[in-house]
Amino acid sequence: MTADIIDISRHREKALRLACAVLAEGFPVVIPTETVYGLAADATNPAAITRIYETKGRPRFNPLICHMADLAMAERYAIFDPISRMLGEMFWPGPLTLILPLRSDSGIHSLATAGLDTVGIRLPKGFAADLIRAFGKPLAAPSANTSGKVSPTSALHVAEDLGEKLKLIVDGGAAAVGVESTILRVENGAIRLLRPGGVAAEEIEKATGLPVIRPEGPAAIIEAPGMLASHYAPGAAVRINADHVERGEVLIRLGSVQVKGSEFATAIFDLSPSGDLAEAAANLFDTLKRADATGAARIAVTPVPDHGLGEAINDRLARAAAPRE
Ligand code: TXA
Ligand code: MG
Repeated sequence: MTADIIDISRHREKALRLACAVLAEGFPVVIPTETVYGLAADATNPAAITRIYETKGRPRFNPLICHMADLAMAERYAIFDPISRMLGEMFWPGPLTLILPLRSDSGIHSLATAGLDTVGIRLPKGFAADLIRAFGKPLAAPSANTSGKVSPTSALHVAEDLGEKLKLIVDGGAAAVGVESTILRVENGAIRLLRPGGVAAEEIEKATGLPVIRPEGPAAIIEAPGMLASHYAPGAAVRINADHVERGEVLIRLGSVQVKGSEFATAIFDLSPSGDLAEAAANLFDTLKRADATGAARIAVTPVPDHGLGEAINDRLARAAAPRE
């Protein structure tokens, strides 16, 4: 099996029709979202969800985010407290996932939630939202990459990684945000950050007037099950907060900084020449893949400020640099 790739800039209606047909047969379809490409399947169909786990080689204890077309649809599957509803109204559609109690009669299959009594819900923008509306059921969708690898931000990334295992890849161009959604959980009136992502925590604090409680060290992140330390691993080793380059390393820079030993770098990539964090997030995964493709044994990355989208970038870089299992 080799995936058909269909470009929505030219064949949007056809892409919707084909994607609906593949979903109805119980197979996953790769769809563009504003964060990263998703491997989407009918969240109510156990055979379809099983195919997601098999395609990615993903452990089944790691639940999937269920994507909805609008808030009314989301309310049919999950129970919203007032703060979660406010967050949804403020940031959806967009790069935000809320962990919410699952309605017992929801129809979302327990394979999608890994048997938990909660469900991760996100309302994406654009083609993904139109597809969910046309299909009429929520789509369970993890990032469309082999488990443990860097998430895809283009149809080509997906085709190279999983193309042989798929029927259809919908090409929506480069993902605008480039890092996965921010995952929040509201508990006892407090907003807890489970995964930094495409909406900056500061932006959430500003909009709601409420503090966002950060995880206490990397261990706490495992509460989003499967947020294993060494996720997002390229083939090369990764060295973060680098203030110099060692012989044989590839250099990834933020801003036009002078880095000691740059002459030893086998190649140099810029996340954002002006140091813009949104641009850096959008370029992050593609740059990691391109740096990796040079065949260098190690990638050195200059420091990234830990505010705004820098929090999500640093989270992904720390995972890429973590010791491998
Ligand atoms: O931007 C995104 O979030 C992308 C696009 C495709 O929507 N999706 C994505 O999915 O990043 P994935 O599977 O790569 O990451 C989802 C994370 C996992 O770490 C999972 O453990 C967590 O969400 N998660 C899902 N349901 C959960 C739940 N009920 N409780 C806690 N964590 C959950
Ligand atoms: Mg992922």
